[in-house]
Amino acid sequence: LNNGLALTPQMGWNSWNFFACNINEAVIRDTADALVSTGLADLGYNYVNIDDCWSNVKRGKGDQLLPDPKTFPSGIKALADYVHGKGLKLGIYSDAGIFTCQVRPGSLYHEKDDAAIFASWGVDYLKYDNCYNLGIKPKDRYPPMRDALNSTGRQIFYSLCEWGQDDPALWAGKVGNSWRTTDDIQDTWKSMTDIADKNNKWASYAGPGGWNDPDMLEVGNGGMTFAEYRAHFSIWSLMKASTHWAPLLIGCDVRNMTKETMEILSNKEVIQVNQDPLGVQGRRILGQGKNGCQEVWAGPLSGNRLAVALWNRCAESANITVKLPSVGLDGSSPYSVRDLWKHETLSENVVGTFGAQVDVHDCKMYIFTPAVTVASS
Ligand code: DGJ
Repeated sequence: LNNGLALTPQMGWNSWNFFACNINEAVIRDTADALVSTGLADLGYNYVNIDDCWSNVKRGKGDQLLPDPKTFPSGIKALADYVHGKGLKLGIYSDAGIFTCQVRPGSLYHEKDDAAIFASWGVDYLKYDNCYNLGIKPKDRYPPMRDALNSTGRQIFYSLCEWGQDDPALWAGKVGNSWRTTDDIQDTWKSMTDIADKNNKWASYAGPGGWNDPDMLEVGNGGMTFAEYRAHFSIWSLMKASTHWAPLLIGCDVRNMTKETMEILSNKEVIQVNQDPLGVQGRRILGQGKNGCQEVWAGPLSGNRLAVALWNRCAESANITVKLPSVGLDGSSPYSVRDLWKHETLSENVVGTFGAQVDVHDCKMYIFTPAVTVASS
């Protein structure tokens, strides 16, 4: 969607994966504070997005959307002012149906009025869900909200949450800034790996302005191991390091993160892969071993560099080896190899092949840079 937004993938936080319906204005304010005090905001996580359950169950006078008076008594405008005061942006949520999934009012047939009220509150982002949709195709339900948001005159990031219905990569580029490629993520290894594979399928669509969305991060929510979360973060970053920059939206309680969670979410070198200006999406290149579960993912970066992830999805530790031409590198030139999780340059002179031992479900991530060669006279 050409509205001047999403030239790099959006980064931020969303309330749903951890809080579900247990949200209130204090949670949102405290989260904004925590994004700043932890340093995550400085790393680019700047959208604070409220998901379902913020609104009152009934519309007010003139059918106006209202915040839930018990949980958001100060109103959304006050919250937006607070979040903006921290240098961050505020996102809100509605649904392209007659109700949201948690049965609050939906915006179908109220697009103009709802977009206008969001803009008047100072909202910067809309996630637009798919429940209670009366069986109408997403292609027909999502464009009216795009037009309504555009006509407000306020720049509002438009995130389609149509769960991959009707293959949105094929039609949503002109509708939203990002679109979901799958059902909801769960905080499990199985869900995370299934979504990685489904999202990978659409790697050749979209571009600056519109991205595949493999759903929000579960890092820090407790259902996966440290290695699995590291893989989740590496692959989500890599999948956006392309014409399909997927959004990096934190989905845990940032007020109470472990050291490990913070170590993953704040890995600047991995974030830089995600935000690289070249904008070419990384993808699965090959799988070795039993069932191909020793995987190599890669994606080009600016400056003739290549991001490479060695992802062990097998049940035992494995040595994953990659022949450099198989990921598009020159087989006889030397490369400098940087390990993005160790934060260390491993070698200035890798030629032909590269391999590493990778623990069960873990993912190692590297940047390969053509080595500087001294011209001989
Ligand atoms: C379904 C969406 O896919 C989720 O991300 C979340 O927004 C819930 N609905 C909220 O009800």
